[in-house]
Amino acid sequence: MLREVILAAAGSPQIERLVANAPVTRDVVHRFVAGTTSDDALRVSRDLAESGLAITLDHLGEDTRTPGRAEANRAEYERLLDALHDAGLTSSRTQPDGSPAVPYATAEVSIKLSALGQRLDEKLAYEHAKAICAAAAKVGTTVTLDMEDHATTDSTLDILSRLRVDYPSTGVVLQAYLRRTEADCRELSGAGSRVRLCKGAYREPETVAFGNRLEVDKSYVRCLNILMSTDAYPMIATHDPRLVAIAEDRAKWFDRAPETFEFQMLYGVRPDEQLRLVDLGYSMRVYVPYGTQWYPYLMRRLAERPANVAFFARALASRK
Ligand code: FDA
Repeated sequence: MLREVILAAAGSPQIERLVANAPVTRDVVHRFVAGTTSDDALRVSRDLAESGLAITLDHLGEDTRTPGRAEANRAEYERLLDALHDAGLTSSRTQPDGSPAVPYATAEVSIKLSALGQRLDEKLAYEHAKAICAAAAKVGTTVTLDMEDHATTDSTLDILSRLRVDYPSTGVVLQAYLRRTEADCRELSGAGSRVRLCKGAYREPETVAFGNRLEVDKSYVRCLNILMSTDAYPMIATHDPRLVAIAEDRAKWFDRAPETFEFQMLYGVRPDEQLRLVDLGYSMRVYVPYGTQWYPYLMRRLAERPANVAFFARALASRK
């Protein structure tokens, strides 16, 4: 119920103005967002990389309404990729013996197709995404397509398959709460196919998505079983201790070497657990958002977990 209310507020410009102008918001935003500029994102990425963590960077923004804005988002990613390269963050990580630990670079980027104009013109979003994939390939790293609400799933998967013709390492997110996702996992479980499996963060009707948490968790495990039992490259994106334990179990069961999959978590969420998994020898990639368009992202984080709302409320109360 609370989740529904917060997700509804994520689409409200009036509530956005209220939250953005609240004096404590800055502190709360900083817990989940690296900052507003690419310099902030680079600083945070360097710190994470020094702790042995990999990174995927997200320039915040979604649902772009003008071609000019879509173009600006693409240009921001192109600049970011160059900056990551200059900072030495796009080179592959290595094991102590010097051999590559993962086939992918320390820092890659995540993109939302709606930020590149998907709702205006699919072809425009594809062209921008392709340019970003080219810029990433040039500096030796990869791109992963975020997944947004269910109305965009077919279009996103279609654009993915076109991008993979030239850039086969392009990754995609699949959301376990969607009833279709088990079938999508099968479809996308080819060799080296980079699939980030998450629970799903949008408000969806029961016709397309499982309504209760247990059903979502069971679907997550079924999808995980498919990805871990094939030659895909699963990116296990969850903070859920039970699902992390099940993933570790499946890795043993299917005899998967640590470099054939990775865990992923969001910046600011369970940082100790992120380091614990690195200490165990697993790859852990942290999703690091930055930029000024943080409002919908923050609201989805609050909706996920009542404790996050309590954190916000406590911060508000302490400033009164
Ligand atoms: P959930 O939120 O159900 O939490 C389960 C349990 O995890 C909790 O009961 C608690 O034990 C523990 N936990 C969670 N948060 C904690 C905290 N702050 N401190 C301590 N314990 C905590 N979604 C989407 O729709 N499209 C996308 O493209 C992406 N992309 C994406 C990338 C990455 C790297 C991640 C990690 C996530 C996404 N998501 C996403 C978000 C995702 O769909 C989901 O909303 C969140 O990850 C929350 O779901 P969890 O699996 O973490 O479990």
